[in-house]
Amino acid sequence: MKKIQLSELKNSINEEVSLSGWVMNKRSGKGLEFIILRDGSGFAQCVVDVNNVNENVFNNAKQLSQESSVEIEGTVKADEKQMGGAEIIVKNLNIIHLSNNYPISNKAHGTEFLMDNRHLWLRSKRQWAIMKIRNRLIFAIHNFFQKENFVQMDAPVFTGNACEGTSTLFSTNFYDVPAYLTQSGQLYGEAMAMAMGKIYTFGPTFRAEKSKTRRHLAEFWMIEPEMAFYDNDKNMDVIEAFLKYITKDILENCNIEFEILGRDTSIFEKISENKFPRITYDEAVSILKGEKDVDGNNTIKTLEQDLIELNEKIKKSSEEIFEKEKIIKGGVKKGKRNFLQNKIDMLKNEIKEHEEKAKNIPIWIESAKKFEYGNDLGGSDETVITRMFELPVMVYNWPHQVKAFYMKRDQNNPELAKGVDVLAPEGYGEIVGGGERETNEEWLIEKIKEHGLPMSEFEWYLDLRRYGSVPHAGFGLGLERLVAWICKLKHIRETIPFPRMYGRLLP
Ligand code: 4AD
Ligand code: MG
Repeated sequence: MKKIQLSELKNSINEEVSLSGWVMNKRSGKGLEFIILRDGSGFAQCVVDVNNVNENVFNNAKQLSQESSVEIEGTVKADEKQMGGAEIIVKNLNIIHLSNNYPISNKAHGTEFLMDNRHLWLRSKRQWAIMKIRNRLIFAIHNFFQKENFVQMDAPVFTGNACEGTSTLFSTNFYDVPAYLTQSGQLYGEAMAMAMGKIYTFGPTFRAEKSKTRRHLAEFWMIEPEMAFYDNDKNMDVIEAFLKYITKDILENCNIEFEILGRDTSIFEKISENKFPRITYDEAVSILKGEKDVDGNNTIKTLEQDLIELNEKIKKSSEEIFEKEKIIKGGVKKGKRNFLQNKIDMLKNEIKEHEEKAKNIPIWIESAKKFEYGNDLGGSDETVITRMFELPVMVYNWPHQVKAFYMKRDQNNPELAKGVDVLAPEGYGEIVGGGERETNEEWLIEKIKEHGLPMSEFEWYLDLRRYGSVPHAGFGLGLERLVAWICKLKHIRETIPFPRMYGRLLP
């Protein structure tokens, strides 16, 4: 008998196959047991008919509990209605292990409970879909850089210096010498680019962010390309080609996953067909404050309209809940009551989300109006700006004060640094930060001092400006920020198998 994985079902129609997996779910009918099996590669319904199997097998099927592990033999029947396009008519079933009281049921659980059970939560369908998309993105990222002749390099995790500012360093001890966990591989990437031309790092990075936000992890994976002989314009061309390539790849390869997540993927088609808007920091600020329109639309007015629409939705859903509760009170059969109650719960959740947003919009408008030129854009500012665009937006030419020490100052306007941030649409905000690097040794030394960084730690870095210095540029993409946006998740904690963030070190 052919041993297959569930992802191969479609190629095995009408064949006898053997499978190993776990029971996600089970329901019973008259003389029938319907098992939803998962094996990591996919999902399928397995039907155990009392008339088709011996008594022993049927009894085995009957006692299966959620997350029990099994071996199944049966015939694959095409069925377009089923996920994976087929179901399995079971002939034989062996229990490998009977699971007892699996803590995660199909009912709704609180986030903290699910996070405490992350080691089990990973088995659920949504988490499976997210992890598969993460995996495919990683594959596509490597493919892009390899096809463009970049050399992959691994930067050290122990470092003696701060790359992205001293406030978010995790300190550790390196043979009795104080050391830090790396915030970014960039400085080493620059050295390697002078050896290899074009490189990219793909590694873990650490930031001691002391706040719980939906965008920040303490440990995250960053992809950092660095290119010799590139200025920031060419850098932005690479970023755009890169994001187009990976979104196209994911669109072609993750249908099932997006379906599970209920993710509308039309945005990825738009991304591959249209040029990304590139706006200066100055323009971004004008747009944010409602002083400059985008295609005839004004930020503040758009947000005010959003608020009106949200309140209308809340009102409509509340009325619907009221009607449904009235029907339940009037007395209905159990099945119908459960159906209505489910709907009510869904509507209540929707209202909660709408209310949260409705509460935020006036705050966003206030802080947008009050934004002071010269400051860094905050999370809500990014959300407001991206509200005006359907595609990722590149914001370039930043005030040098808000950017890292290594940013190249504009020769014509030294107030500005040649940095670029890419803001993802749909309210996600910054997913990429990068720019051209300072090559002027004096200016660089000045900046290192200004940022209060120890000069001795940067001598090697300054060497890159002393021996065959060339214009160079690069950027960093946060993998988890990317996954959150691609999957349209509310929080970054679901984008990595075991998130590390403020207040979370277990499991
Ligand atoms: O903008 P950042 O700080 O830039 C750098 O680290 C540069 N050295 C990159 C470069 O030019 N080579 O971080 C880059 C990206 C951000 O845009 C964001 O996507 C992600 O890293 N990021 C985080 N992701 C999750 N949690 C955090 N705490 C993050 N901090 C940054
Ligand atoms: Mg940044």
